[in-house]
Amino acid sequence: MINNDNVKLITVNASRKYQVKIGGGLLKSAGEHVKEVVNASKIALVTDDTVDALYAKGVQKSLEENGFSVCKFVFPHGEQSKNLDTYGEILNFLAQNQITRTDALVALGGGVVGDMAGFAAATFLRGISYIQMPTTLLAQIDSSVGGKTAIDLKAGKNLVGAFCQPSLVLCDTDTLSSLTKEIFEDGMGETAKYAVLDKRIFDLLQNEDYDIKELVYLCVDYKRAIVEADEFEGGKRKLLNLGHTPAHAIEKLSGYQISHGKAVRMGLDIILNSSISHGLVEKKCAEQIKCAMDKCAKAQAVSYSVEQMAKACLADKKRSGDTVTFMMIGGVGNVIEKKVPITEIEGYLR
Ligand code: GLY
Repeated sequence: MINNDNVKLITVNASRKYQVKIGGGLLKSAGEHVKEVVNASKIALVTDDTVDALYAKGVQKSLEENGFSVCKFVFPHGEQSKNLDTYGEILNFLAQNQITRTDALVALGGGVVGDMAGFAAATFLRGISYIQMPTTLLAQIDSSVGGKTAIDLKAGKNLVGAFCQPSLVLCDTDTLSSLTKEIFEDGMGETAKYAVLDKRIFDLLQNEDYDIKELVYLCVDYKRAIVEADEFEGGKRKLLNLGHTPAHAIEKLSGYQISHGKAVRMGLDIILNSSISHGLVEKKCAEQIKCAMDKCAKAQAVSYSVEQMAKACLADKKRSGDTVTFMMIGGVGNVIEKKVPITEIEGYLR
């Protein structure tokens, strides 16, 4: 019998209904939670080398104790692995291990693992069930929820992917204490986005001693509402792209040496400054927003020229014909969509 005491539960009512469980120690009973949601006999456990050393053994043991036979695929950590080659290797691994449509995949790790393993699950045999077990802050607050799966191409980030909701998301908040300062701050860079989008998160961050579990809960709950309203990003879900157009350009220009969360934090500063100069946000409000974002993480200076950034933005998947969509800041909980002609992009990146 699963003990859900001290576990925060969020149900996402998307095209597939599933739960996000948030709490300490969840990975220890991973098998029991998985057994509740899939009727598989085999589980393909996909992870990277860093997470493999920390958590894969325990997760595998719990899955096996609950009757699953487990095969494991491990790839080198980092955004550089999120490509067609690794994706192909995962598909071949699933085929070699005779994973069938009634089996399932577990994505154990950060955003790269979740995005790429999720995409493999979405496409192998035209789709098998998968479970997200995010182990980084960024993956827990954002990328593991909502069913976006993808890999990168040389031309840009997340250019190939699918919307495919997981069957379950297990956020074990104990894993956050094993993160390096750098990886934790990466997640806080993405949290800064939620501080602008949601007044509850903006307010929580005013308290120096906030509970990290509460932060994860509020971010996931905000995302839940957005995904339920607009799963396939026809409208409202674009709010979650705040800061991401410049961020993806920065990631690409750095050869993915600048991590996603850090790039988002830099992108948010660019968008805030641009929102001020376009008269979209009052100065005092902008200062409060900057202060809340800085509490999450301070932005690194951008070392690329506006011209370089504008060129990189042209490959953004949010481009539509001759316009690129920029999400601008009007205040806390007030994001304004601007369709910017490609000839005017530079004016939004200063
Ligand atoms: N990370 C943005 C989204 O899931 O829509």
